[in-house]
This record gives sequence, structure tokens and C-alpha cells, in this order.
Amino acid sequence: MAVYTVRWIETCIRKVHSIVTEINFGEPAQIAMVQRAYALWVLLKDDPIYSFQARTVSLAKMQTDSAERVIALTRLQGYASCHFVPRDQAADLLSAYDSAGLNSVQWDQYWGRESAISASRAFLETYQNTDGLSLKTVNPDTPDAVIRSIGEMSMRAGVLPPPASGMRGIGIRGVYQYVETADGTIVASGGGFMSYHPDGPRPDEAFWGMLATDEHWRGKRLACWVGAQIVTDLATIYGARGFSSGVKANNPSSQAMCSRLGINQSDFVYAGATDPVIMGNTSVTR
Ligand SMILES: CC(C)(COP(=O)(O)OP(=O)(O)OC[C@H]1O[C@@H](n2cnc3c(N)ncnc32)[C@H](O)[C@@H]1OP(=O)(O)O)[C@@H](O)C(=O)NCCC(=O)NCCS
Repeated sequence: MAVYTVRWIETCIRKVHSIVTEINFGEPAQIAMVQRAYALWVLLKDDPIYSFQARTVSLAKMQTDSAERVIALTRLQGYASCHFVPRDQAADLLSAYDSAGLNSVQWDQYWGRESAISASRAFLETYQNTDGLSLKTVNPDTPDAVIRSIGEMSMRAGVLPPPASGMRGIGIRGVYQYVETADGTIVASGGGFMSYHPDGPRPDEAFWGMLATDEHWRGKRLACWVGAQIVTDLATIYGARGFSSGVKANNPSSQAMCSRLGINQSDFVYAGATDPVIMGNTSVTR
């Protein structure tokens, strides 16, 4: 009993601390978008039709009124999408967003279930790092300076990371990993989150990705290392059995990295929209 009480008090202190000391990344429009998303998630987190991956709230799957809901979410946050949209149904959604004055954006939904777990385990069994690098997990005690370095490296690669509370897994079920050199430089990172409601249709699915490697360190399998560890940690800690990520058609390195880990192009897309009034020319992420 005493142990549970102490843990509960520690959790409360961390939540309050994270509100007070939150670290956000990106352009002002991206920071404001993520802040609105976290506020919106407080209101929507109990509804299984919504999904949250530590950056924005989206629709977890097609509904009869998907377009209206995504348009509303986009006008509130600046960006939103509908997940698991069958490829042949995406055009109608995207054109509804455009007709509403939003900018539609389509991401191929790369997706893997058992293939992701087996490929990730196989990768980790054989991978040998020869540069003296360490793969580490962000936790509630990770120093702010490290969080800032991860976020800045990720932004240089064009990938919007979650704020510090998301990376630390405070109030959200997820893991965030990073690769550090012997002198403490962050050279790669990524994360994954159980982004669907336990009572919804995809309780064992995770959003996985946000992978970024410093441009001087690319081609050394660092993204695979980070990505594989995230898959196995999500499977072990949270029982995740499905892993998906949004990849643009013009991103061959990301496509190759996903496929290497058994996460392949699926018959689904993410049908997303940005609001130019709120976001201007700022894109959400790469
Ligand atoms: C995508 C990214 C994270 C890959 O990082 P990385 O550490 O260089 O990747 P890895 O070394 O682990 O390589 C993974 C696979 O991609 C392949 N690859 C790497 N660069 C490639 C390129 N330009 N074109 C095609 N394949 C490429 C590798 O050969 C490897 O495949 P293989 O194992 O079958 O040979 C990195 O390029 C990056 O940060 N890009 C910008 C941000 C981004 O696009 N993130 C993904 C968002 S969806």
C-alpha cells in the first residue's frame, strides 16, 4: 500500500513538473499546434474513435462523417488526419478537405504486425555497432539538456518530435530512443506510442517512427537500430502487435528503412489536412 502511495505521488509530481517545464520543438506554428493537440486530447482521450501519437489528435479509422471530423480537428489544431483509410477511398476525403479550404496531404501507411517483430528481433540479434555509440531510452529522469539535443537533431532532419512529456512517456504509453556518441552528441532518435484506445478496433496497434538520423551519420543502420528497439520495447512493455507509420511517396530512405524492419507499404493511407490559416506555409513534419 505504502509503495503504491509513493508511486502515485511520484506520478503526480512528474505530471505537474512536465506541465511546468514542458519543452516544445519546432516553428511557432508547430509548437502551438502540438499544445492545442495536448489540450484537445484531455477532452477526447476516452473516445475510441480518436488516436493520439504525442503530437496531434486524429481519427483512428474511417467513420460515416470522417471528412467533417477531420476538418474540425484540423481547424482546431492546424493539422489532423484519418488513419487506416483504404487507398481507393482516400481521394473523396482529400477533395472534401480541399473544398473546405484546407490543404490535403496523403501519407502511405506503412504497416507491419508479426513481420515487424520478427524482423526487428533478427536485426537486433545481428547488428554490431562499431562506432562506440550507445542506444538509450528516454525516461522521466532524462535531463532537459538531452531532451533538447534530441529535439534539435530531429528538427534538423525535418522530423517534428513530441514535446518532452511525450518523449518521457508521461501521461502516454510509449517509448522514445536515441543514439549517443561517446562524447554525448545525439545522432539518431525515434519513438512509438500506443495510439489507439484499448476498447477501440485496434487496441494492440502502435504508431511507430519519428525516426531521424543526423545527416553525417546516415547509412550506418542507426535508424534501423533505433526503430527495431522501439518495436521490441513496445511489444514487450505494452503488448503491441502492430506498428504503422506515415511515409511520403518521395522518401526512399524511410521506405527502405521501414521495409528492412518488416513494416511495409499497406493498402491504407493516412488522409491528412493542414489549415493554411493557422499553419501558413509550415509543414507538420517530414
Ligand atoms: C530516413 C532516415 C531516418 C534513415 O536513417 P539512416 O540511419 O541513414 O538509415 P539506415 O542506415 O538504418 O538505413 C535503413 C535502410 O535505408 C536504406 N537507405 C538509406 N538511405 C537511402 C536512400 N537515400 N535511398 C534508398 N535507400 C536508402 C539503407 O540502405 C537501409 O536499407 P537496407 O538495410 O535494406 O540496406 C534518415 O535518412 C533521415 O533522417 N531522413 C530525414 C528524416 C526522415 O525522412 N525521417 C523519416 C520520416 S517518415
